[in-house]
Amino acid sequence: MKKILVTGGAGFLGSHLCERLLKDGNDILCVDNFFTGSKINIAHLMASPYFELMRHDVTFPLYVEVDQIYNLACPASPVHYQFDPVQTTKTSVHGAINMLGLAKRLKARIFQASTSEVYGDPEVHPQPEDYWGRVNPVGIRSCYDEGKRCAETLFFDYHRQHKLEIKVARIFNTYGPRMHPNDGRVVSNFIVQALKGEELTIFGSGQQTRSFCYVDDLIEGFVRLMNSRAELTGPLNLGNPGEFTMLELAEKIMKLTNSKSKLAFKPLPQDDPKQRQPSINLAKHELAWEPSVSLEDGLKETISYFRNTLR
Ligand SMILES: NC(=O)c1ccc[n+]([C@@H]2O[C@H](COP(=O)([O-])OP(=O)(O)OC[C@H]3O[C@@H](n4cnc5c(N)ncnc54)[C@H](O)[C@@H]3O)[C@@H](O)[C@H]2O)c1
Repeated sequence: MKKILVTGGAGFLGSHLCERLLKDGNDILCVDNFFTGSKINIAHLMASPYFELMRHDVTFPLYVEVDQIYNLACPASPVHYQFDPVQTTKTSVHGAINMLGLAKRLKARIFQASTSEVYGDPEVHPQPEDYWGRVNPVGIRSCYDEGKRCAETLFFDYHRQHKLEIKVARIFNTYGPRMHPNDGRVVSNFIVQALKGEELTIFGSGQQTRSFCYVDDLIEGFVRLMNSRAELTGPLNLGNPGEFTMLELAEKIMKLTNSKSKLAFKPLPQDDPKQRQPSINLAKHELAWEPSVSLEDGLKETISYFRNTLR
């Protein structure tokens, strides 16, 4: 049994990760400041003697004893990370410094939830890990994009300078139950709008594409990467390479929810990438990992979750 710290453990991905690690027979310490996370996301785990919840902000140092650290703490959706952009950068950068300091003291392996946003609005499709990206350093998304880029830098410097065992995953759009219902992410937006019979908001022409990974597939990738050979540091892309336009996604969701909603077209937000698609050759080769849940099956699970929560 390993003692595992999950920061941001009460959030969307964190709660699924805690659940999985607990099921695998580990002892979990979930740390969260509940900025976007919620106790409801982990309420079903609270009865276990091997699950512990701690309210803490990762921008402050943390002194605990664990064997592994998954660092997920950070608001992930534009509406939340742009609400207090200074705090977003602090969470990424000071949070990384604090968690890396903890890992250094404990000689613990540490995983970083990085993001496809480090590629910015890319000129290369799909994006391989050795592509350096095209990020605006002074835009409204920069607090998140540059914060995450700086966190990656810190992880690699701790690795080179202090020989820390690091695992950096670049996560692409992921969806599933326990997404925040109104955080502006396209899958939850469309589902909530369709279930409420409201218009589905399409930004721009709707021809921009995204790839969508179901949460269970992603969490499997996290666990495999964390437990991979010591030399494998990443960065490693985790996501689903299947590409869909926003119009295609809207149509699928309308069909699965039997919705009669109409589409409402709005202007594209600043620095919105036109296309984002992971190259997952490295994950396939190193972890024998690739997504297995189809968009249709994943959407059904997610729709059923939102049907229950919106009641
Ligand atoms: N969901 C995705 O598609 C996606 C894509 C790329 C990267 N990521 C990364 O994965 C991680 C988890 O994302 P998510 O989708 O679960 O988002 P989320 O907002 O649901 O979860 C983030 C969690 O971190 C907590 N948190 C925020 N600031 C904190 C702080 N200062 N101290 C302690 N806790 C703090 C929040 O309360 C929340 O529980 C994030 O680091 C995000 O950047 C997610």
